[in-house]
Amino acid sequence: MNRDIYPGQTYPWWQTCVIYQIYPRSFMDTTGNGVGDLMGIIEKLDYLSDTLGVDAIWISPFYPSPMADFGYDVADYVDVHPMFGSLEVFDQLLTEAHQRGLRLIIDFVPNHSSDQHPWFLESRASQDNPKRDWYVWADPKTDGSPPNNWLSVFGGPAWEWDEQSKQYYLHSFLREQPDLNWRNPVVKEAMFDIMRFWLERGVDGFRIDVAHFIMKDPQMRNNPLNQRVEKLFHKSLGEYDTQIHLYDKAHPDVHQVYREMRRLLDSYNGEQPRVLIGEIHIYDLSEWVKYYGEDLDEIHLPFNFQLLKTDWQAKEVQQIVENLEVHLPPGAWPNYVLGNHDESRLASRLGEPGARLAAMLLLTLRGTPTLYYGDEIGMKDVEIPLEHQQDPWGIRVPGLSRDPCRTPMQWKDAPNAGCSPDSVSGLWLPLAEDYQKTNVENQLQDPTSILSLYRRLLKYRRSHPELQIGKYVPVPNANKDCFVYLREFETNVDMSRILIALNFSNLEQQLDLSHVNGSGHVVISTRLDRSGLIDLENLTLRTQEGVIVEL
Ligand code: NOJ
Repeated sequence: MNRDIYPGQTYPWWQTCVIYQIYPRSFMDTTGNGVGDLMGIIEKLDYLSDTLGVDAIWISPFYPSPMADFGYDVADYVDVHPMFGSLEVFDQLLTEAHQRGLRLIIDFVPNHSSDQHPWFLESRASQDNPKRDWYVWADPKTDGSPPNNWLSVFGGPAWEWDEQSKQYYLHSFLREQPDLNWRNPVVKEAMFDIMRFWLERGVDGFRIDVAHFIMKDPQMRNNPLNQRVEKLFHKSLGEYDTQIHLYDKAHPDVHQVYREMRRLLDSYNGEQPRVLIGEIHIYDLSEWVKYYGEDLDEIHLPFNFQLLKTDWQAKEVQQIVENLEVHLPPGAWPNYVLGNHDESRLASRLGEPGARLAAMLLLTLRGTPTLYYGDEIGMKDVEIPLEHQQDPWGIRVPGLSRDPCRTPMQWKDAPNAGCSPDSVSGLWLPLAEDYQKTNVENQLQDPTSILSLYRRLLKYRRSHPELQIGKYVPVPNANKDCFVYLREFETNVDMSRILIALNFSNLEQQLDLSHVNGSGHVVISTRLDRSGLIDLENLTLRTQEGVIVEL
């Protein structure tokens, strides 16, 4: 439903919502095979909508797949992998989510399919197969080497020689993930049909995997070499960083595709708008904003990963937020991401106090926040012994494994942490050692736990228009370790303001905020141990403490 709670102003649900990402393999296993499933998500819907208090879920891929990249290698875009359930279970999930007012966003993987997808099997059969042009094929150079210097994100060349049909095919990721040819209008239509299939079933939107990758340089020119020392992305990617990725992705023609995709999506709006979210790792803001579309007619929410790239310091974070506010085209809606299934866990990167501060930041900034399953209980990266490693990236490039952040959800102090039936031996990834202590059931009993903090923040955000839709107003302050801002909400009759003050340092900090107001009421501290009237001329924030103050 559109939020119409604010007189005279209507905001689509995807602006006022908080999104929660579920990695389905690790969320809840009801069949006892050590891997989570859709029925498991259904079992946990009450937890998500009532106990935790999020508004939308995004589920990573659950399609039939050989699982070379754990579902991001799709072998059938219009079905459910039997391990996860069936289309019937999916429909039940959608109905039950909607009954609770939860929106359901699914992952759409347009850049590549699995090499086992029937389209690719046909495409590789021969050079004159009618589906040959559904993927990106090219002749070798005269010496037999690949057509150009493009590299796979996951290591090695982006080209794989096909002995049978005597050409190379492009794979920006694994060789088991051939890139589809979006310059072929028939491919585009086939992919749009897939979107129609899910829209007709009633999904609320799509998270588009590596959205910027689908259009490459039509001349397939060599990428220039990267002479710079600094990271190209938010983390170092090894060999991939030796090039500037000028030609192998993000060709400007990509915007025409997203305009068309958006029109398709909008044609299903009816009562409920649907949403497009794009995974776009572009850190140059002037390039990144283009994905909103010149007339805001492309992607509603290009994922904003800027906070992952920055040092965890007050002024750096503040700069990211303010740059974004400056660069956003009028009417474009911001969003923030601090974790997902590809990144080290918040609690491992920042420690528990830092993870609490991050929660307060994420849930008080202007824009749609996306949370990652397990971060609400402070789950940490789990070191995976070599023999249990699963992630193909980590296996190819040591140090880049994403297994540590994908371990089973810690529901309770029970065998398998309640994520699989007790009798199961062998979850797909090992459990964190601390699961007996760090789990949902325990933290629900503890009014000061990080889960209690998330619940308080989510409830507060839901009931405060200042946080959901209000303006972001920076508050200048002399203390370099603190980031302070207001969220303001104005109606015809009055204006209300909420102050957020975050201490990023490991020392106690004093703030004089008397230029904002004389006093205020602390409503939430990241430590959940204080509330009440404070003097803003002399506000003390403890080590890595954040507070929300009503003025
Ligand atoms: C981005 C996804 O988030 C990641 O998990 C996946 O491996 C690649 N895209 C390839 O699909």
